[in-house]
Amino acid sequence: MELPFAESWKIKMIEPMRKSTREEREQWLREANYNVFQLKAEQVYIDCLTDSGTGAMSDRQWAEMMLGDESYAGATSFYKFESVVQKIFGMKYVIPTHQGRAAENVLFSFLVKEGNVIPGNAHFDTTKGHIESRKAKAIDVTNDDAKDTQKVVPFKGNVGLDKLEKVLVENKGNVPFMVLTVTNNTVGGQPVSMKNIRETCELCHKHGVPVVMDSARFAENAYFIKTREEGYADKTIKEIALEMYSHVDAMTMSAKKDGVVNMGGFIATNNKEWFEGAKLFCIPFEGYITYGGMSGRDLNALAVGLDENTEYDMLHTRIHQVEYLASKLDEYGIPYQRPAGGHAIFVDADKVLTHVPIEEFPAQTLTCELYLEAGVRGCEIGYILADRDPVTHENRFGGLDLLRLCIARRVYTDNHMNVIAAALKNVYDRRESITRGVAIEWEAPLMRHFTVKLKRL
Ligand code: F0G
Repeated sequence: MELPFAESWKIKMIEPMRKSTREEREQWLREANYNVFQLKAEQVYIDCLTDSGTGAMSDRQWAEMMLGDESYAGATSFYKFESVVQKIFGMKYVIPTHQGRAAENVLFSFLVKEGNVIPGNAHFDTTKGHIESRKAKAIDVTNDDAKDTQKVVPFKGNVGLDKLEKVLVENKGNVPFMVLTVTNNTVGGQPVSMKNIRETCELCHKHGVPVVMDSARFAENAYFIKTREEGYADKTIKEIALEMYSHVDAMTMSAKKDGVVNMGGFIATNNKEWFEGAKLFCIPFEGYITYGGMSGRDLNALAVGLDENTEYDMLHTRIHQVEYLASKLDEYGIPYQRPAGGHAIFVDADKVLTHVPIEEFPAQTLTCELYLEAGVRGCEIGYILADRDPVTHENRFGGLDLLRLCIARRVYTDNHMNVIAAALKNVYDRRESITRGVAIEWEAPLMRHFTVKLKRL
């Protein structure tokens, strides 16, 4: 008999969890203004808000924490971290930052000027925020397959090359770089193929435009290349990562995802001029260039995290769990962005809450319903997250309206996946009776989803 699948790690430390009653959750959600970011973590049973900084570190990572060198300048920890980054990504110049958006802030402070246009395959919200706050424009050039949640294609995060070319031609001389996000978080943790990475970079370079890879989930992307793209089955994850980065000019990294640390980020590039330029912004924003917002012990833990999480078994265990949750939703007939992404399941709220008008934010409503049902916290990746158009100030209802259920790395078991799926099924079974959503009572001008105050209609 063939041996069944099992995790490639065992558990050494546990954290007790607390369940709550529906009554408690009704009160807590009301107090949180129907915004799950405003809940206290202790009011949550299973937390699928994000996979960012929520992973469980390995014993080797914890051991390295004890060896951190906390010297202000030139710490051993920096050089340990730098050499791992150089080896995995083939990038010579490395600047640590405290997280991904800090890497964006430092690099974009040097590169983005008012009026610039920056195309990308669905910029993450902080990336878009750092572009728009500098009065530049972020244009989404994701391929159209991503818009149809039921269409199964292997690399749904790909760049639409026609769309990209149009932006490059129409904005000649005004595009400082293009952002290539792997995996494409916004459309569902969907991967980008090596072919698309190569062709995107060739096209950009033909137009004299460099490419910055937003790398938060680069290892998951490499896993999908290995398992889905012809010619890569026999390559290691590390070989694939190196090839991915051989095409691009720089990277920004939120190490809280595929670095499997609770906090951390960095910039890496082979472009000396960019390195020198970014360095100037690192010092005032993040700190001296050999620590840039991270302590020595955190740099050590990240060095190990990057090395461990670019091994096949680790990634296979992770993606297998996300696919397991997807298989439960398939069993219950619940529509989500297919195929399952790398870090999360994105439930298609428009297709679930068909009686809730889009002006009443179906995905946010579904997020609230799931929390009330079982204390499971997901998050809206939809019309609230999309913010308003900076020019017309209208809500952007054009994209997808999804409930994202992120799976933290190495934290929950498949039994927890069963609970999430069952809770969602219970909501799904009474979907016809949910006819009203939520309305905005107060919102911030940028990145409103973190602090928005809502009322239930
Ligand atoms: N880029 C991508 C693709 C991301 O998903 C994130 C964060 C960032 C950049 C910013 O990194 O949080 O370290 O500052 N995504 C988290 C999420 C917050 O929940 O998807 P950060």
